[in-house]
Amino acid sequence: MITTSLQSGTQPTVLVVDDEAGPRDALKFILRTFCNVRSAENAKIALEVLGQEPIDLITLDQKLPDRHGLELLREIKHHQPDVEVIIVTGYGSLKSAMEGIRHGAAGYLLKPFNVNELTTLIQQTMDKKRRLDFLRYCLRTLPNLWGSEEESGRAWNTVKTEYASLSIHPQNHDALQQDEMMTLLPLLSDALEATDRQLLNHSSRVSFYATLMASRLNLTVSEQKALALGAFLHDVGKTSLPSYKFSEDQILPSGEASVCREHVDRGVRMIAPLGLPSETREIIASHHERWDGQGYPHGLQATDIPLLARIVGIAQAFDHLTADAPGRVALPLEAAIRQISLQSDTHFDPQLLELFVQVVKNSPVSPRAIEIAPAA
Ligand SMILES: [Fe+2]
Repeated sequence: MITTSLQSGTQPTVLVVDDEAGPRDALKFILRTFCNVRSAENAKIALEVLGQEPIDLITLDQKLPDRHGLELLREIKHHQPDVEVIIVTGYGSLKSAMEGIRHGAAGYLLKPFNVNELTTLIQQTMDKKRRLDFLRYCLRTLPNLWGSEEESGRAWNTVKTEYASLSIHPQNHDALQQDEMMTLLPLLSDALEATDRQLLNHSSRVSFYATLMASRLNLTVSEQKALALGAFLHDVGKTSLPSYKFSEDQILPSGEASVCREHVDRGVRMIAPLGLPSETREIIASHHERWDGQGYPHGLQATDIPLLARIVGIAQAFDHLTADAPGRVALPLEAAIRQISLQSDTHFDPQLLELFVQVVKNSPVSPRAIEIAPAA
């Protein structure tokens, strides 16, 4: 049995931050039935409480007397990314509540509160936090997850069993156990989010771009599925890196990712015992290879690099240029296309890159929209 700080069945501690006594007392009254409750009437007191004791979740009013709620949210998420935050807002401020979600809030609540919606949102957020805390703990303490295939298989079996008990309603447990992928995908998605929610969003966007490319190439259905999955998991090895932050994971002017190269091998070792398609493994193994042979880990060249890995290599580099995420400067579409086109024939397969540029220019969906809905 793996133990973490917030166990299933223990009462979470919630900090209610609101300067108005009415909504603050209403929230405290409702939450007391299933949470330990603390409260603060301004940002200064909220930060003092956070510095004094472990807080699992914060309900944060957007308008505080000493600071804007979003500014406080950014500071909290920067220093304590594991603390979940729910924005409390009126109908008139929905746009900034959505901005809060972009900065890491788990959801938002509309005033006046609907008690059912409030309790459901808090409980969903806490359920998710239990799963993410559990996976953070596993990623910190079980290096066998990226050990030999035998070690990794044993470590994953432990993680999968306990993760299932945290995430599946008892009546669905047997049915879901029959479909390995139905339990594996949420687990791997949660592992990406437990590392950094922006890493999950990046992975989702890269998978979206790869899917757009698949529809323009003559790929079999099984290749298309392996591509979508491999694109989603291309950076799964980054979940093994302590203190990984997507905002610091920049592409250098040389076109090389600044994060440690070890993430490629670790990603391959992590998925080895999971029974995923061999093409998915190839994508993870080769998405940093370069057309001119100057990439890593093996210096593969041109068409020696598997086709699906060449697609994901382009998609992930493009997303690093255009990612609209906190702490990053995103290039507009045209500038990103100009920049990535400079690397045709050196980093990327020129024909695939030309197709990719056509595909993103014609895509009706903005990359900003391709983000995972929080607190599900
Ligand atoms: Fe990578």
